[in-house]
Amino acid sequence: MSKEQPLEKDWWKKSVVYQIYPQSFKDTTGSGKGDLNGIIEKLPYLADLGIDVIWLNPIYQSPLVDNGYDIADYYQINPDYGTMDDFKRLLEEAHRLGIKIIMDLVVNHTSDQHEWFKQSCQSRDNEYADFYIWKDPKEDGSAPTNWGSTFGGPAWEYVESRGQYYLHLFAKEQPDLNWENPNVRQAIYEMMKFWFELGIDGFRMDVISLISKRQDWPDAPEDAVYTKSYYVGASNGPRVHEFLHEMNREVLSKYNIMTVGETANTNSDQAILYTDPAREELNMVFHFDHMHLDYGPFGKFSDIRFKMSDLRDVLTEWQNKLENRGWNSLYWSNHDQPRAVTRFGNDTKYRVESAKMLGTLLHMMKGTPYVYQGEELGMRNVRFTSFDQYRDIETLGVKKEFEEKGLPESYIKESIFLKSRDNARTPMPWNGDEQSGFGFTTGTPWIDFSPDHAEINVESCLADQNSVFYHYKELIRLRKMFPVVVDGKYELINPTDSDVYGYTRTLGKQKLVVICSFAEYKVNYKLPAPLKNQSGKLLLSNYQDTKKELGDLELRPYEAVIYLIDES
Ligand code: GLC
Repeated sequence: MSKEQPLEKDWWKKSVVYQIYPQSFKDTTGSGKGDLNGIIEKLPYLADLGIDVIWLNPIYQSPLVDNGYDIADYYQINPDYGTMDDFKRLLEEAHRLGIKIIMDLVVNHTSDQHEWFKQSCQSRDNEYADFYIWKDPKEDGSAPTNWGSTFGGPAWEYVESRGQYYLHLFAKEQPDLNWENPNVRQAIYEMMKFWFELGIDGFRMDVISLISKRQDWPDAPEDAVYTKSYYVGASNGPRVHEFLHEMNREVLSKYNIMTVGETANTNSDQAILYTDPAREELNMVFHFDHMHLDYGPFGKFSDIRFKMSDLRDVLTEWQNKLENRGWNSLYWSNHDQPRAVTRFGNDTKYRVESAKMLGTLLHMMKGTPYVYQGEELGMRNVRFTSFDQYRDIETLGVKKEFEEKGLPESYIKESIFLKSRDNARTPMPWNGDEQSGFGFTTGTPWIDFSPDHAEINVESCLADQNSVFYHYKELIRLRKMFPVVVDGKYELINPTDSDVYGYTRTLGKQKLVVICSFAEYKVNYKLPAPLKNQSGKLLLSNYQDTKKELGDLELRPYEAVIYLIDES
């Protein structure tokens, strides 16, 4: 697309991205796994929603130890999902509908089945010997550092044939690439060019803040509990900006594409370094600050509920910090996070209202919004009845770790229910008919369906004008209609209210007033002084009979309203 049509620069600032987890989107072969032809079939649904870009989770050749984040061949499509021809057709069809496609770039590590790694294991002096991070054992034979890996166990694995350890920040089947080696970087840049020449529109860059490791290999402090212990030597490392700038110069700058880096352990000051256009690195990053608000003594897997005031502080900080110096990505959920409505809303009595409220709060902010598949239906977490139903490597690892720690079974169950990545990975329900595999598969799904699909599915949402789907569609339409949604300056209007999050966006003579209640009861909301005597018109609300004119409000549970003040 970038080659055929002259594209506006920074088109991604006006875009809404929809994330597809291919394995769980739509199966056309009866294999129980989603595929590329399934995505093609559902493009009109996405066009109807109004999204501009699809982000595809990895679809490359992979043994799927970490569901595709372990790539064995960057140039091949995983046959489970289809062929290269299917992919080309997907690109073509999407582009025809005005939808761009970005892919996942997983280059912190490969699969241990990648040819490079197989060769690298053979000896210390072949072409690929330094493609990965190999270190000699310490004098006592132990691993070079005390780092733990993300999915449990140490981050180093010993290989007899070399008499050395290799580093893997994730599973042992995901060895880390050695970015210090210029040949590794060139091989990655070549591969990126291959996909750009094919016509893709950008990359989401997996754990990109981890690619540069400190070369003095420090041990982590013994009490590194909240953080992954390897962060000490691997996150925002000494050469990360140099590498990304080089990648930008050699590849990214040659195409009119978008980039979003996944940057764990990165604060808003560091994010500016990645996204300030003057530095020529990335367009935007995914930070985790709002994802950390319900972390507990053992990190992510906890039974703690976030506090609205913390959420407001975090989102406001990011809106303010990046104003004019970078660009925000806006997300509630993705394939690594539980469902937003369960985590930040109320997924029973006010499921529809709170799902719409969350969408409103996020989509009216400054940045590029991401919708994770099923979020537009208000899908919620899945309470699997048996642990055997979980598939994810992280969840299986956490269960083992918590059992070894002797944590109570009830805590283990609840924290997994609240945080397992499988909550986001159950199949998309295209209709409510269990006999037809809810329109997802004619075979046996690779992971169980959520039990509530008779109620929550695409068909029922499309048939109901008041569904979450139509609210999202309207939010996306507003972004396209009003430049203030894209470019307006953000200002928080009620920094201390314990129930209500309100902010404005201002561009020239237009101002949006966005007011969102997180309360499950009625709240009398008084407009702050500067807005008191202004006249504004209602643009959207998640209740039917909200006042049409801006003024004080009696907000109902999870009510969300958007008014426009227009003095032009
Ligand atoms: C990222 C991905 C996650 C994967 C990990 C390792 O965090 O989003 O799904 O497990 O990186 O590649």
